[in-house]
Amino acid sequence: DGKRYLVTGGAGYVGSHAVLALADRGDRVTVLDDLSLGHAAAIPSGVELIRGTLADTGLIERVLSEGSWEGVLHFASLSLVGDSMLRPMHYFMENSSLGFRLIDACIRHGVRRFVLSSTAALFGRPGQQVITEDAPVEPGSPYGESKAMLERALAWADRVHGLRSACLRYFNAAGADPQGRAGEDHTPETHLIPLVIDAALGRRAGLSINGDDYDTPDGTCIRDYVHVSDLATAHLRALEQLGDRSVTYNLGSGHGHSVLEVIRSVERVSGRQVPYSIGPRRAGDPPKLVALSERLRRETGWEPRFERLDDIVATAFAWREAHPDGYGDR
Ligand code: UFG
Repeated sequence: DGKRYLVTGGAGYVGSHAVLALADRGDRVTVLDDLSLGHAAAIPSGVELIRGTLADTGLIERVLSEGSWEGVLHFASLSLVGDSMLRPMHYFMENSSLGFRLIDACIRHGVRRFVLSSTAALFGRPGQQVITEDAPVEPGSPYGESKAMLERALAWADRVHGLRSACLRYFNAAGADPQGRAGEDHTPETHLIPLVIDAALGRRAGLSINGDDYDTPDGTCIRDYVHVSDLATAHLRALEQLGDRSVTYNLGSGHGHSVLEVIRSVERVSGRQVPYSIGPRRAGDPPKLVALSERLRRETGWEPRFERLDDIVATAFAWREAHPDGYGDR
């Protein structure tokens, strides 16, 4: 029988796809999620859901002491760049403080492996080209800073206590489970691809592009969209590395696409026009974030299954068409 993992935030977008990947290979999974952003319906049958918050220290103690955990995967987090520019301290308290407490509890309960959902938002310096793991960590937003703090804490948790960790810096998670078992459903939705899809489907008036005067070829921001199921398998590969060392990986497809290119991709996939207008820049947005994921590929053998933007968008479109109200629980 499989290994046992605790997944915080396992009802969320990236977390739920990682839960599917673990469950698909026969591991036993317990999800801890307060369902403030996540969805109970995203959790497959056979996976235990504990509804609770990381702020409930008594609960964390009980859960961690009740069994022997092969590892903890920590997804529970606030993750919006723009939101974090409006309430930075909230991000530090929710992401960094609660994360420190979870790491501390893991150390005390003898957990040996920890995986952190980290982010490309660590890299805020304009004009960076393709970003390697050695690029300087200079967050452009409090959100990125909140994760940078957790990466530093984990480095010390390894050095002092031997807690092995994988910091996985996701670039832009996109798409949906190819079997249609999970997808992207945020309330409110702020992410580009679901918004463009809803505009294509006539479910919203159109899309406002957050600035077209960036120093990029078409003036709109460039991001590296990586399929959420490829992110999920990267967690499995990264866990295998955590025998006697900790690892940090940038996790993207290696291809950058502008906002306008995403709109064109949705138009191709959907066969419909997307009405859009140009709005002001959004605070905290770096012009370009594209990962070089060579280290992950070389050290773990990870290969993304979805390389082309149209293929990623097609899975997102299929899920959204089949689930026009998402999980229907908001
Ligand atoms: N955008 C628009 N119009 C919209 C929505 C988004 O022009 O209506 C633009 C954004 O300004 C940005 C790009 O589309 O330039 C992508 O925006 P998203 O909101 O989809 O994603 P972000 O790049 O802001 O952030 C996402 C995650 C973060 C993560 C980051 C890593 O939300 O958690 O990717 O690159 F840190």
